[in-house]
Amino acid sequence: MNSPLPASIEATIDLLASADYVAERSLATAVYLALRMGRPLFLEGEAGVGKTEIAKVLAATLGRKLVRLQCYEGLDIANAVYEWNYSRQMMEIRLAESEGSGTSDGSGRGKGTRGRSRERLAKDIFSEKFLIRRPILQALEGEKGAAPVLLIDELDRTDEPFEAYLLEVLSDFQVTIPELGTIHAEEPPVVVITSNRTREIHDAIKRRCYYHWVDYPDAARELEILRRRAPGAAARLSREVVAFVQRLRSMDLFKLPGVAETIDWSRALVALDKLSLDPQTVNDTLGALLKYQDDIARVRGSEAERLLAEVKAELASA
Ligand SMILES: Nc1ncnc2c1ncn2[C@@H]1O[C@H](COP(=O)(O)OP(=O)(O)OP(=O)(O)O)[C@@H](O)[C@H]1O
Ligand SMILES: [Mg+2]
Repeated sequence: MNSPLPASIEATIDLLASADYVAERSLATAVYLALRMGRPLFLEGEAGVGKTEIAKVLAATLGRKLVRLQCYEGLDIANAVYEWNYSRQMMEIRLAESEGSGTSDGSGRGKGTRGRSRERLAKDIFSEKFLIRRPILQALEGEKGAAPVLLIDELDRTDEPFEAYLLEVLSDFQVTIPELGTIHAEEPPVVVITSNRTREIHDAIKRRCYYHWVDYPDAARELEILRRRAPGAAARLSREVVAFVQRLRSMDLFKLPGVAETIDWSRALVALDKLSLDPQTVNDTLGALLKYQDDIARVRGSEAERLLAEVKAELASA
């Protein structure tokens, strides 16, 4: 059953929070407006800041099915929209041939055209029975009249021809299958598009969407995220973890830790029965936070010790 759309920005914040997603007001505003105005939501931001999660949480809280299109280089219509099931079509043709061969004159000519006319066969094999529905078609058709949430994840990984095609789909919420006709969404899906900005997405797509840059959370919000997503951690440990990660993000590293890494680190520390941070533990567990050896080498040792001393001093004075 579809739940009603949230009636205000506050209601959107509450809706997301009901699935433990802690959204800042500007993000909740973007979500609210995208839902109200029936426009796709375009989320750009660093890795691990909760872009993909928004689509999952919306599907769960609005009672919609989540249809996910994971983008990659070379993604084409056959994998994104629909494809004919060639092997089943071939089987159907063989079947028609064998139906026909019983009444054939034995010459082999005209096989398969006696049991069923050539036109009938062509019509049969290009019917819905032989259609493989990929995510975009599934999202347009919906499920028992309910429009799903369509997540088009990491759009920056596809190439421009696919983007141009997507633009058409997002303009009309319909696709045309030459052999079948045009399929139009009765109710447009809730569309969430994400990008890690490895390249710029065309303005024409962005113009059709409600755009929001998802930033790293501030300390208070990140602490609230930990409270909800890593509830096993002691309050002191969570505060130290957040203060440490926030400091790391001001360093010039190759890849800064996202919220996903903060949660992972926190859970790892709980698994090690830690109640607070110490230099040895930080050094030993940096792999949960940093994913490049150069970054780890920069932070491990004296830098980690310095950051940790700052964190302890900050929390002691708070
Ligand atoms: N605001 C938030 N509230 C609650 N959890 C969050 C929030 N932001 C991120 N998370 C958590 O961080 C994890 C990573 O989020 P997500 O996978 O959505 O990141 P992403 O931005 O899509 O990253 P990537 O670009 O690497 O795909 C999620 O599992 C989610 O639990
Ligand atoms: Mg993602």
